[in-house]
Amino acid sequence: MVKICCIGAGYVGGPTMAVIALNCPDIEVVVVDISKPRIEAWNSDQLPIYEPGLDDVVKQCRGRNLFFSTDVEKHVAEADIIFVSVNTPTKTRGLGAGKAADLTYWESAARMIADVSKSDKIVVEKSTVPVKTAEAIEKILTHNSKGINYQILSNPEFLAEGTAIEDLFKPDRVLIGGRETPEGRKAVQALKNVYAHWVPEDRILTTNLWSAELSKLAANAFLAQRISSVNAISALCEATGANVSEVAYAVGKDSRIGPKFLNASVGFGGSCFQKDILNLVYICECNGLPEVANYWKQVIKINDYQKSRFVNRVVSSMFNTVAGKKIAVLGFAFKKDTGDTRETPAIDVCKGLLGDKAQINIYDPQVTEDQIQRDLAMNKFDWDHPMHLQPASPSAVKQVSVVWDAYEATKGAHGICILTEWDEFKTLDYQKIFDNMQKPAFVFDGRNIVDGEKLREIGFIVYSIGKPLDAWLKDMPAVA
Ligand code: UDX
Ligand code: UDX
Ligand code: ADP
Repeated sequence: MVKICCIGAGYVGGPTMAVIALNCPDIEVVVVDISKPRIEAWNSDQLPIYEPGLDDVVKQCRGRNLFFSTDVEKHVAEADIIFVSVNTPTKTRGLGAGKAADLTYWESAARMIADVSKSDKIVVEKSTVPVKTAEAIEKILTHNSKGINYQILSNPEFLAEGTAIEDLFKPDRVLIGGRETPEGRKAVQALKNVYAHWVPEDRILTTNLWSAELSKLAANAFLAQRISSVNAISALCEATGANVSEVAYAVGKDSRIGPKFLNASVGFGGSCFQKDILNLVYICECNGLPEVANYWKQVIKINDYQKSRFVNRVVSSMFNTVAGKKIAVLGFAFKKDTGDTRETPAIDVCKGLLGDKAQINIYDPQVTEDQIQRDLAMNKFDWDHPMHLQPASPSAVKQVSVVWDAYEATKGAHGICILTEWDEFKTLDYQKIFDNMQKPAFVFDGRNIVDGEKLREIGFIVYSIGKPLDAWLKDMPAVA
């Protein structure tokens, strides 16, 4: 029986291994992590991450051929294939601070593998890492090899949160990069055999190591670039009276461009896009390519601009001040169907409103009060350090309260900011909400999910990203 061990039981490692275990009953899969609470949660009825369909998959194979353990060394020693899916935060100090990936967790995982291994291993990079990380890892392993043969593969994961299980069952492609030697090819084939249990052969692509590593950074950069492109156009739409939904639809009808991933928003979030682009930028700079670095930097600049533009719109339309005003924030997660708040635009928008002394009432169906308070107290880039290193209970931000109902959040509010596109926000009783708000009552829709016309009929002043502006908003221009 082939044995797989995955180091890191996070958003990537957990769901990916669960789906491998379900599809490969002949393989034993053990997911290990240094965080005891995380492993306990994976072994309980309350999994540590919210992901539609995940509970069901875990229930079917946990205890059968899927196990979660803190006994990292034992399971690494026993495995044939080791996936490494640990955190790769952005460095906050030293060389490359604010850009380069911090490979501390990766390096310590590699040294541990070298320490405990007694048989040949295939080591698979699963977390997104800078190009040429595989080479560095290979050096650590071979310099400490004690005669053991290690093959390093890059197998980046392309799942998106909220649809992780669907994406894992039906991936657009599985990418495996390896050394172009007989041993390298054999290792690639071994990993291919795992995926071939459920993924059609023509969707499993094999490349050299560097291509696989760079493809992941490039794919995320292209996706983020689409959002920054449509968001840049949204600002122009507001200035000219065009409607960004109509423009995006017309543009996406060109089969060379395609219709997906063109929703204007308050900005993209999530653990990958910004981090991976910063990484790409840093690699370009290190390779003497400042023009290329500057090109990609602009994607992040537009994203930051979009978030501050949104805050400015809120403040300017409420007579240039929100001090002491109650603002309801609906949605805090970085997208719907996840409880994940890493790099969510809601953090920047809330911090912006707090900077103007607003009183904020937040409701999100999947994010806890503790998480929101942590996020608002945390410094940039601190979020990607393992949970046990984060402060246990930061002092709560006093102007923020977290409630468990959208009606409660909006009661007595001057304005509403919709920051995550949760389906339930589309079907709220907005008449009831309007009746319980201060007047004039504002809705700032950062996800374009409500029907602006219907809300205007009720009496709201409505701002939707990239849509023609109400007379009120035209009279109160926002300076970005
Ligand atoms: C992304 C990639 O999609 C995935 O392939 C990769 O493996 C990890 O990074 P994820 O961050 O989980 O996945 O979610 P994604 O659906 O890509 O959304 C990222 C952000 O972009 C979210 O904040 C989302 O709201 C925003 N977004 C997405 C838009 O603003 N508009 C869109 O049209 C699409
Ligand atoms: C373009 C648009 O495609 C068309 O819809 C619009 O109406 C007019 O502008 P055109 O300039 O005739 O059409 O040709 P196109 O095929 O778009 O190529 C433009 C340039 O991009 C060419 O120099 C082409 O060689 C280059 N190109 C195109 C690339 O370098 N790489 C590609 O992948 C595609
Ligand atoms: P991702 O979104 O890429 O899955 P996460 O932060 O959700 O990232 O998960 C990474 C996990 O890796 C965390 O649970 C962390 O505790 C774990 N981890 C980090 N370093 C090690 C290590 N050396 N050994 C075992 N687990 C580790």
